[in-house]
Amino acid sequence: MTWHPHLWHPTTQVATSPAPLRVQSARGSELELDDGRRLIDAISSWWVTLHGHAEPAIAAAVARQAQQLEQVIFANFSHEPAEQLATRLSALTGLQRLFFSDNGSTAVEVALKIAWQWWRNQNSERRQLIAFEGAYHGDTVGTMALGDRSLFTAAYEPLLFDVARVAWPHSHWGDDSVEPREQQALGQLELALETPTAAVIFEPLIQGASGMRVVRPAFLRAVAERVQAAGALLIADEVFTGFGRTGALFACQKAGIQPDLMALSKGLTGGFLPMGATMASERLYQGFISEKPSDTFFHGHSFTANPLGCAAALASLDLLQQNPERFEGFEQRHTPLLEQLSRQPRVLRPRCLGTMAAFELDAGENSYLNPIGKQIQRQCLEHGVYLRPLGNVVYLLPPLGSSDEQLQQCYQALEQAIVALG
Ligand SMILES: Cc1ncc(COP(=O)(O)O)c(C=O)c1O
Repeated sequence: MTWHPHLWHPTTQVATSPAPLRVQSARGSELELDDGRRLIDAISSWWVTLHGHAEPAIAAAVARQAQQLEQVIFANFSHEPAEQLATRLSALTGLQRLFFSDNGSTAVEVALKIAWQWWRNQNSERRQLIAFEGAYHGDTVGTMALGDRSLFTAAYEPLLFDVARVAWPHSHWGDDSVEPREQQALGQLELALETPTAAVIFEPLIQGASGMRVVRPAFLRAVAERVQAAGALLIADEVFTGFGRTGALFACQKAGIQPDLMALSKGLTGGFLPMGATMASERLYQGFISEKPSDTFFHGHSFTANPLGCAAALASLDLLQQNPERFEGFEQRHTPLLEQLSRQPRVLRPRCLGTMAAFELDAGENSYLNPIGKQIQRQCLEHGVYLRPLGNVVYLLPPLGSSDEQLQQCYQALEQAIVALG
């Protein structure tokens, strides 16, 4: 395996990483490599592959759409796949307007800009933004600013605007210390909300990138109540959690909250095509309708509402709605296997939410740079399973279509890798 002379891979330090594995094809939960090896994609290729790779119904919908209308400028024009998708997502999220973009970062960036300008259009003085400790909202400059400061953002620190930061009281199986931490976080939020606040952004139920950090639904309800009582806008970043990942179609529904804005991407097209969607309430939309040119939302991407992405998203939604038991029942499939794995003395703080199961390895520092993650990754590859731990946080997030045998193979590989650590 060698590095290609003309490629630059994401989040990769070439000096210390092995060259990438070359993939020839993929089907269902499996990747097929050039050398003939097959690997279970146990993290759904950065959480995007929702049903499975090359899902036939989505592939067929994209192929059909490609022969009819592959792309058209979305200012001055509209089309059926975009309109259908907007209608369906509006009904499913309770948010009446859909603004398209290209990925998760831009979906969040759009939510931020809508929230910010909505207040400005009303000549409001609300300027504060509130986000949570450990938050990750994307890699653009605006979304890095919303996210917590980390190794990923350090180089850009002077470019990042300030936000007020509130603790994230994450929990795990058998946690008996969560209530006072939740109360403390709510106290911090109340204090922050005393400053006129434009918006509060959060990842509903689980922060993914900072280590699969799960909070209780009641905490999110208490957050939403306080934010709404203070008149600030509530932005749910469902880029990771949307489309069944937490066991409900959207994590906000599972938590019983209704945000003003919702950012979607990743599973939106079933993992086939890059697309972002920002859902906004009608109240926000109306705040941009005016005779004044400066009230316009001056934001647009070349590929806005790409018809192929819309067709993939519609086909993916069909699959989700026809087979809700696939996401609703996934947590029950993880639970006994994670319980069994948790008997390993090195496995700490196990937690499970929908299609996601995670734990920490007792191996020194709790950090993204903890080398144990790479050790586990190497070992699991030998057992035919692809994982990408976040330092010492190890997690599984397989596609919905994974078979029981494939899920068992993932846990067996993990158990063997952990035992091999000694
Ligand atoms: C919660 C959340 N928001 C935003 C993003 C950014 O999405 P993208 O990588 O598609 O830009 C991610 C990516 O992992 C995410 O998990």
